[in-house]
Amino acid sequence: MVVFKSKGDTAANTTTTTDTTAPSESAAPKTTVLKPIETKVTPSQFDTSPIWESVAKSYDNEIGWDERVMGIGLLRRWLVSQAKGDVLEVSTGTGRNFSYYKPESITSATFTDRHPPMLEEAKHKFEKQPKPWNVEANFITANVDDPKSMPQGFDTVVDTFGLCSCGDPVEALVSLADACKSEDSRILLLEHGRSHYDWLNRLLDTNVDKHVTRWGCWWNRDMVGLLEDKRVKEKMEVVSMYRWHFGTTCYIVAKPKRSPTETK
Ligand SMILES: C[S@@+](CC[C@H](N)C(=O)[O-])C[C@H]1O[C@@H](n2cnc3c(N)ncnc32)[C@H](O)[C@@H]1O
Repeated sequence: MVVFKSKGDTAANTTTTTDTTAPSESAAPKTTVLKPIETKVTPSQFDTSPIWESVAKSYDNEIGWDERVMGIGLLRRWLVSQAKGDVLEVSTGTGRNFSYYKPESITSATFTDRHPPMLEEAKHKFEKQPKPWNVEANFITANVDDPKSMPQGFDTVVDTFGLCSCGDPVEALVSLADACKSEDSRILLLEHGRSHYDWLNRLLDTNVDKHVTRWGCWWNRDMVGLLEDKRVKEKMEVVSMYRWHFGTTCYIVAKPKRSPTETK
């Protein structure tokens, strides 16, 4: 796999172009600032829940081939094979990570998702695993960006491709940190979002409305920027990060930060 070198990310919904073709009195290239790309669909006025509720049965077939071509299975294995102790996976979807865990390292497993049809698919998949896990597994409907609905007290918290789908990814990251048992816990993330490259970000920005209304996924979110958000930085610290696919796929291991007053 190739890690592409970082180039300045384009800020969401802004596009700048350097026009070198127009005739000009000076030889210097002319920079034209284009109008911001207007996003009509926003998380506050578009609920993706009906999409996730209707796609559950066909989800694996729809994305299986893309994931194979992109080597996502390898990244899933690399990430979730580190899970140990009491494990929480949020936005579990249809349970595409199950075969990559090491059950012998796991004491208990809790799988959550906001949408019961997705969680039902996950439950069936879990029951049909070739090697059954010798641990208790709980399946709970929970909204990752609503801290009140989230279970707590885990050694490992996993989220793969969930931050692009929830309403408030900052709140979601904060609740992942809060779900950790202690500073020794780990948060394992595999996410997708903005690229290192301006041309690709423009493509993501231009087509985000179409993409979110079809797939329930905000594919132009700035994953690295989210980790820099003040509220997130107060709650977690990045241990390692790698990026693939022009920087759009982010593999992140983080640990929670606890303030001295927190007793968790
Ligand atoms: C792109 S799928 C990823 C599924 C799975 N994690 C994977 O790696 O294949 C996004 C998942 O997030 C779930 N989801 C969307 N919004 C959510 C929320 N606010 N809280 C919890 N889960 C949510 C959807 O139901 C869906 O199962």
